[in-house]
Amino acid sequence: MQNWTEINQKLKDAITYIKKTVAFEPEIGIILGTGLGSLVDGMELVGKIEYDDIPHFPTSTVESHHGRLLFGHLRGKPVVCMQGRFHYYEGYSFRQIAFPVRVMKQLGVRSLIVSNAAGGLNPKYKEGDIMMITDHINFLPGNPLIGDNDDNWGPRFTDCHEVYNREYIQTARAVALEQKLRLQEGIYIAVTGPNLETAAEYRMFRTLGGDAVGMSTIPEVMAAHHQGNKILAFSIITDMGLPDNMHPCSIESVLKVAAEAEPKLRALIAACVERM
Ligand code: HPA
Repeated sequence: MQNWTEINQKLKDAITYIKKTVAFEPEIGIILGTGLGSLVDGMELVGKIEYDDIPHFPTSTVESHHGRLLFGHLRGKPVVCMQGRFHYYEGYSFRQIAFPVRVMKQLGVRSLIVSNAAGGLNPKYKEGDIMMITDHINFLPGNPLIGDNDDNWGPRFTDCHEVYNREYIQTARAVALEQKLRLQEGIYIAVTGPNLETAAEYRMFRTLGGDAVGMSTIPEVMAAHHQGNKILAFSIITDMGLPDNMHPCSIESVLKVAAEAEPKLRALIAACVERM
């Protein structure tokens, strides 16, 4: 496992390269999930860097994810956008998955917005709904805080009474009301994937208190929370995991539903950014 001495060294290389390539200080970080890459269309771009070019940056192996950092302004706010993210099922360690979040912090990011595609567990949800994540259950076999701790980054025993920022949650509620958007709120459960769940598993995750299940987000969120970022997160419900009404679910249909819901999420995120 990478220790903090190694991580800090790698961060130094990555930050040096990024600052040399794009002179820009973002305040808000945005991580775009499956099929949500064009969420940044409303951004005034200042610079772009391919993940491949950044020293020690992981590279995305998933086709539905681009692999680049975008720098620019969204509604006048300086943002950095991760177009494409890393998943445990791709073989990365949790510390590797969290690396870009550590990079963002060192670039000046104070707030993080995370999006993903997820399966709906709450029977009140419909495909294409947007769910604001109000809390989570980590069903992944670890997180990036495991291992040694660097107290300069955050505490050894990170408190989790408010991982998802309550003010931001209120802001998103107000925006949704103004935009006449049906915004669900719920608990996100993260699993390893890459397979989707069996009917029995969907039933179990619902019983355990989940409203949506997906394969990402919690590792990045835990690193962001550890380093003191304020967090806002959304899932697009791309398929329903209803154990008594199972249908085949393909990546094509997940991407299609995500693409259809994207304009709604794009408008919501832009308006939230403006008020953050
Ligand atoms: N399960 C897990 N991850 C997912 C799903 C799902 O049903 N849909 C999109 N990501």
